Amino acid sequence: MSNADFDKAEFRKTLGQFATGVTIVTTLDKAGEAVGVTASSFNSLSMKPPMILWSLDKSAYSLPAFEHTKHFNVHVLGSGQDALSNCFAKPGTDKFDGIKTSKGLGGVPILPEYSALFECKTAHHYAGGDHIIIVGEVLKFSRNNTTPLVFHGGQYAGIGNLF
Ligand SMILES: Cc1cc2nc3c(=O)[nH]c(=O)nc-3n(C[C@H](O)[C@H](O)[C@H](O)COP(=O)(O)O)c2cc1C
Repeated sequence: MSNADFDKAEFRKTLGQFATGVTIVTTLDKAGEAVGVTASSFNSLSMKPPMILWSLDKSAYSLPAFEHTKHFNVHVLGSGQDALSNCFAKPGTDKFDGIKTSKGLGGVPILPEYSALFECKTAHHYAGGDHIIIVGEVLKFSRNNTTPLVFHGGQYAGIGNLF
């Protein structure tokens, strides 16, 4: 299929066949305000040094914050955290209203609940079409043994109710 007859909706649906986890990535903007975004593009990258990656839409409000920050935190969500995922998938601010965060490395907010947490130092930014690819070196990590939240075909699922 050439670029000219590329069906965007069908491309999206085809990509949706790839089941992913769901993360919320947090950081601080230049003014020190908490910023966060839901991202399913997270993946493991390297063991030595320990690295992860994810990608962010260039039109995201949070782009300037993630371009400038030295640290960010990736929270892998657990099943039942759909509402939190939807909250951080809304553009703009006020996503942290009513959420009691703690401070991680660089003062970056840590959400109270997650299945896994990776505290990262920004290592690289790469161009990726209409997204930027953000690579983080993992400085700290922890996990709770909760069932992860799964995203598949545009819908949430728990591991147990996927099929
Ligand atoms: C399950 C799910 C996964 C998402 N994954 C990504 C992603 O990997 N990268 C991205 O840029 N946006 C992703 N989004 C969309 C962003 O969360 C959404 O555009 C959000 O408004 C961005 O926030 P901001 O504009 O405040 O930066 C995802 C949304 C959902 C619901």
